[in-house]
Amino acid sequence: MSPRRWTIKELLEVTADYLEKKEIDRPRLCAEILLCHQLKINRVKLYLAFDQPLNEREVSGYRSLIKRRLNREPIQHITGVQEFWSMEFIVGPQVLIPRPESELLVEQVISLYKAGGQTEESGPTVLDLGTGSGALAVSLARELGGASLWASDISPDALDIAGKNVKRHGVEDRIQFIHGDLWQPFKEKTFTFDFIISNPPYIAIEDYDSLPPEVRDYEPRLALDGHNQGMFYIEKIIMEGADYLNPGGWLLIEMDPVQTSKALELMEQGNCYGEKRRIRDYSRNYRVVMSQKAVVS
Ligand SMILES: C[S@@+](CC[C@H](N)C(=O)[O-])C[C@H]1O[C@@H](n2cnc3c(N)ncnc32)[C@H](O)[C@@H]1O
Repeated sequence: MSPRRWTIKELLEVTADYLEKKEIDRPRLCAEILLCHQLKINRVKLYLAFDQPLNEREVSGYRSLIKRRLNREPIQHITGVQEFWSMEFIVGPQVLIPRPESELLVEQVISLYKAGGQTEESGPTVLDLGTGSGALAVSLARELGGASLWASDISPDALDIAGKNVKRHGVEDRIQFIHGDLWQPFKEKTFTFDFIISNPPYIAIEDYDSLPPEVRDYEPRLALDGHNQGMFYIEKIIMEGADYLNPGGWLLIEMDPVQTSKALELMEQGNCYGEKRRIRDYSRNYRVVMSQKAVVS
């Protein structure tokens, strides 16, 4: 008997049902994305080809991708990309998969810069501390034409991926990469920044084991583990951040909603910061805490 010839429509239906039974998140979407990846087509083309029969090689390739997803490998590791700020970024096990809520950091920098009334020519200086895939720095480079950006990370493997992303989006001459531990590489530098943004590791160690397997088993612990109550890096960034800001410059940090009030308290200490705010994400949770370095007259 010759093997069954599946059409795209049939294969998607059977796969989505199976993924749902196995409790895979958004099963139909997952089935479609992975079939697009296997066939190297986009979703519009997939819908237009619903009745097209697939050959054995295509079906068996698709089966291998589904098997990986059933092992709870993130879909982005299978396709190798993630969309952020309407651009496609290369991702892999070396970097955190950029999350939609981090777009808030990009939005806020743009809005603060525009509210400051500066001209595009003079451009702000921006540091992305813990850049990972480089998604935040690349997005700001694309949005703020005159900006000069620095992007740092302790992980050389992450910087390697970020380097690929800056080339992919044509901003390699606008972003300087720096390898090192938090503020360490900036201690010797003579310049300071108009904006410092960071999405640091902020998962509380107490919560680490209960993360979904896609995150816990596949994304880098170095990008996630914020140690005690998730505050280790947030505290260091706040306590020393003002030393690396220009007067009137802004520090913006993404964190878990429960960490935001403690972060604001830390910003109160030391009298380095003037205005302080916390901003909600699209789910109405406080997500970003920001503060302006005081201008001493
Ligand atoms: C939560 S990820 C954020 C990645 C990226 N900025 C984003 O928003 O998608 C945190 C990043 O900080 C980096 N990191 C962890 N510890 C660090 C340290 N001590 N110094 C500098 N970077 C660090 C990790 O390698 C990781 O890339």
